[in-house]
Parts: sequence; C-alpha cells; structure tokens
Amino acid sequence: MMKADVIVGIQWGDEGKGKIVDKLALEYDMVCRSQGGHNAGHTIWVDGVKYALHLIPSGVLNPKAINVVGNGVVLSPESIIKEMEQFENLEGRLFISDKAHLNLSYHALIDQAKERLKGDKAIGTTGKGIGPSYSDKINRIGHRVGELLDPEALCTKILDYFAQNKPIFDVMDIHAPAREELLAELNGFKANLAPYITDTTQMLWKALDEDNQKVLLEGAQGTMLDIDHGTYPYVTSSSTVSAGACTGLGINPKDIGKVTGIVKAYCTRVGNGPFPSEDLGEDGARLGKQGHEFGTTTGRARRCGWFDAVATRYASRLNGCDELALMKLDVLDGFDEVKVCVAYEYNGKEIDYVPVDLENVTPIYKTFKGWTNSVGVRKFEDLPASAQEYVKVIEEVAKTKVGIISTSPERDDTIIL
Ligand code: GDP
Ligand code: IMO
Ligand code: MG
Repeated sequence: MMKADVIVGIQWGDEGKGKIVDKLALEYDMVCRSQGGHNAGHTIWVDGVKYALHLIPSGVLNPKAINVVGNGVVLSPESIIKEMEQFENLEGRLFISDKAHLNLSYHALIDQAKERLKGDKAIGTTGKGIGPSYSDKINRIGHRVGELLDPEALCTKILDYFAQNKPIFDVMDIHAPAREELLAELNGFKANLAPYITDTTQMLWKALDEDNQKVLLEGAQGTMLDIDHGTYPYVTSSSTVSAGACTGLGINPKDIGKVTGIVKAYCTRVGNGPFPSEDLGEDGARLGKQGHEFGTTTGRARRCGWFDAVATRYASRLNGCDELALMKLDVLDGFDEVKVCVAYEYNGKEIDYVPVDLENVTPIYKTFKGWTNSVGVRKFEDLPASAQEYVKVIEEVAKTKVGIISTSPERDDTIIL
C-alpha cells in the first residue's frame, strides 16, 4: 500500500507549483490533477526551453511518468487538445477521467457575460468558464467527459440544455449552436480524446494498492482561492486544498502521504479581492518586474506584495503541510530590506488568524536585511547569509519547515534541504 504525496499552492496561485511538480516528477510514477481547469497556468523551464501547461499535469516532461486528469477537473476538450500538440506520443502516458466535467465554449461565454454584468463587483476571473462549468456540475446539469464517446447522444443533451436555459441565455446574448456544427465539434473531440478517457480512480487504486507506485497529486490555484476557505467570493470554484485531492481523484484521506505547500518568498494575486500585504508602491512594482509577474493564462499583471505569514500559517494548517517549498527567493535579490507580514491589525487589535472579512485587516510588518546574488544557488550554504536568515524567519513565522528552496525558473536551480 503506497501513499500519495500532495503538492498544494498555499497563497493565491502561481506560487511555482509547475516547477516543483516537474522537478519531483522525476522520482514519481504518476502525477495527477484533481481540480481546476484551464484557468491554471503552469510554466516550466528545462534547459532554456519554456513549456506552458494548463490542463496536462506538470509531470508530462518526465517521459516515465503517467499523467492523470482526475474527476474533479473541469476539462475543456479544445484547450487540452491544443496543449497536447506540444508533446509527442502521449498515448499510454496521459489519462482523463470519464467522470471529469466538460467545460465547453458556452461556459466561457457565460463566465464573461456574468463578469460584465457585475461591473465593478467583477471577480476578475480568467474568463475560461470555470465557475459556470462547476455550477452546472453542482446543479446536476453538467456533461461529463465519458459522454464524449457517444457524440450523437451528447449533442442532443447539450441542445436540450440550451432549450431549458433559453430565457437566461437570451439575456446574455448566448445562442444554441446548430446541430450539425455542434456534432462535428463533438466528433472531433472524440477522435482526439477517446484513447485517453478511462476510469482513472481504478487506475489510481491499482497503482497505490497493487503496483507500489509513487504517486504525486498536483494542485492548481492556491488555498486563498479555495471555494470554502479562500477570500469568498473572490475565489475560484473548486476545492484547492489538499483535501480536495481526495474527492477530485477518488481516493480517501488515508491514502495521503506527505503534503508540500508551495509558497513564494513574497506574495502575488491576479484578479480582484483582498490581499493584505499588497504593496501598491515602488516595492510592489519592483517585485512584479524582477519576478516577471504576468499571468501564464491571461497575461494580466499580477498584484505583488510581501510574504504573509498569517495567511501561510492558516494555509499550512488547512492543508496539513509537512513542509514548504519556498519559491522565487532570487526575486528578492537587491532589496536593501525585505518585509514579512507577521500579524494583522483588526478592529483595533492585533490578531494572528485569517478573519472571514480579510479586507478589513491592516498588515503588521517586520523588516529584515536584504541580500544580493541568490539567483541560481543550489546549496543552502552558498546562499548569502541574510537570505539564509530569511529562510529561518519564514520557517519560524509560518510554523512549518522549509524543505525546498527555488532560486530560478530552471528545474535544477533548486535546493533540497
Ligand atoms: P504555478 O501556477 O504555481 O505553476 O506558477 P506559474 O508557473 O504560474 O508562475 C510561477 C512563475 O515563476 C513561472 O514563470 C516560473 O517559471 C517562475 N519561477 C518558478 N520558480 C522560480 C524561482 O525560483 N525563481 C524565479 N525567478 N522564477 C521562478
Ligand atoms: P494556477 O494553477 C492565479 C484566479 C483568477 C480570479 C479567480 C477566479 O496557475 O496557480 P476563475 O477563472 O478560476 O473563475 O477565476 O481565481 N485564478 C488564478 N490565479 N493562478 C491560478 O492558477 C488561477 N486560477 C484562477 O485570477 O481571481
Ligand atoms: Mg500559474
């Protein structure tokens, strides 16, 4: 009986999960995605070559690892087919759950229309139809990946769905596709994806229970974007925490082994919603510039600020993190001083927890000495003294040990402690 290890984002996404999953995948037999959709954007650099992944698990660059897209994912066939073109011979290396829900082009139209209607209350979604496809799933009116195997029947169901929702869709100026057009599209999806569709839960059980395989579960987004525990309503529509990996793949809590939380050495957020340690001044702009903080999926500039220890402690407890991977330490190179948000001021009092109305807190900072030249360092003892000190501070304030430090986008510029 093997346990599955988990990689989970513990800030607002884009922590560098892709880089770590790619690096660790070399030691795993299987890498599985359990939630989210093509709102995720994971950038991986290997020997100067850049790969952008959205739905395919970040284990794909290890030719030996099997990659699984679990039932908890909302899958855009169009998006994954395009993504698959970057790789040769994925047959036998990529499997998609027949229970994953379909994210079809009308979901993106609904997402974008709803955002427009919200005006200045918009969430700032990726516009990829994530919320609407998860709503359809929970509303029990969604369509699943396995249904792609019978395009005629699925086509009829989708047209029925349009007929039932016509008054609502009319308001959003969304119209039913013509039957021939829709059927041709679905036939195309079947032709491209049928070899990959299977019961991935059975696969995973066999891998863990019989074949003694090493399995890595790759989270998308981050804890502060979790539908229950994040900054609702400014969140994504899935369970981004480690527990979500169980429901999103059909395994149980006892199947989970080590949990590694991925954090940047500072903080970023894309889209709207509270972000206590955001720096709207020169420092934030500098972090964005040095960290190349533009979204992989939408190209939007990410909001930047300092490391938030309160949010990290919260996320570490929620996920059961055994350790942290501290990413992008090199981005802090050249700052005379670096700040860490160690507590919040809330209703005139100092607090050390994340309240439900996070927009009403003010960060309380501690300042530490900066450093230069951490980029590309591969051994802890080769880090500048104040960078070593900063890592110790993070461990202390986050109450979680740091097991991995990353000092560049490249796979091997990584310190394993
Ligand atoms: P993910 O969504 O969590 O997989 O993260 P993204 O890929 O969206 O964003 C992280 C970005 O930081 C990517 O462009 C990575 O190539 C880059 N990156 C990852 N680790 C490091 C690091 O240690 N240093 C620097 N400078 N960049 C990094
Ligand atoms: P990765 O996996 C950062 C954000 C969006 C928006 C909110 C809701 O690369 O870390 P959605 O389209 O999901 O309904 O948008 O969530 N968001 C992300 N932010 N990284 C991501 O994924 C994200 N996926 C969604 O910007 O604020
Ligand atoms: Mg990303």
